[in-house]
Amino acid sequence: MKISFTVNTKRVTVDVPPDMPLLWVLRDVLDLKGTKFGCGAAQCGACTVHVNGAPTRSCVLPASSVEGAEVLTVEGLSPDGSHPVQRAWQELDVPQCGYCQAGQIMAAVALLARNPNPSDADIDAAMNGNLCRCGTYLRIRRAIHRAAELMAAGAQPQGNGRSQRSPNGGEALRR
Ligand code: FES
Ligand code: FES
Repeated sequence: MKISFTVNTKRVTVDVPPDMPLLWVLRDVLDLKGTKFGCGAAQCGACTVHVNGAPTRSCVLPASSVEGAEVLTVEGLSPDGSHPVQRAWQELDVPQCGYCQAGQIMAAVALLARNPNPSDADIDAAMNGNLCRCGTYLRIRRAIHRAAELMAAGAQPQGNGRSQRSPNGGEALRR
């Protein structure tokens, strides 16, 4: 089935089974490896991307449902890791193994888009479904507060969000 949608502002058409999860379309067809497979059952958040602005578990979203949609992956946040959330993550050295972090960052970006100054409780509620086996939760919380400060001070990502590179320099999140 041919499906056309937008990924990181670029229009794409893929020919895949309609029930193929968006995660595998992104990773295996479009070679966007920043988004990770964790559980495959909408339980961990590793595969979080934005679909029409909403944080979405791509591991359980059939490709057919993104026809005409706008999808944003971690690669689309900035060309060089300069999105304020990525900058905050780097400043606070959030990742340990890093595996969950693309999903954490995408969830954080979505939170800050709807709530530019979240409380600890807001953060905990919004990030609750994004699991980190390394237990980086406290750094994630601090980094979201820091990103909120950067955004309030007018920080913007460099470039136009069209990049296909990952926030950690390209290869760190590719597996
Ligand atoms: S891989 Fe999608 S929620 Fe775990
Ligand atoms: S940093 Fe290792 S799972 Fe989150």
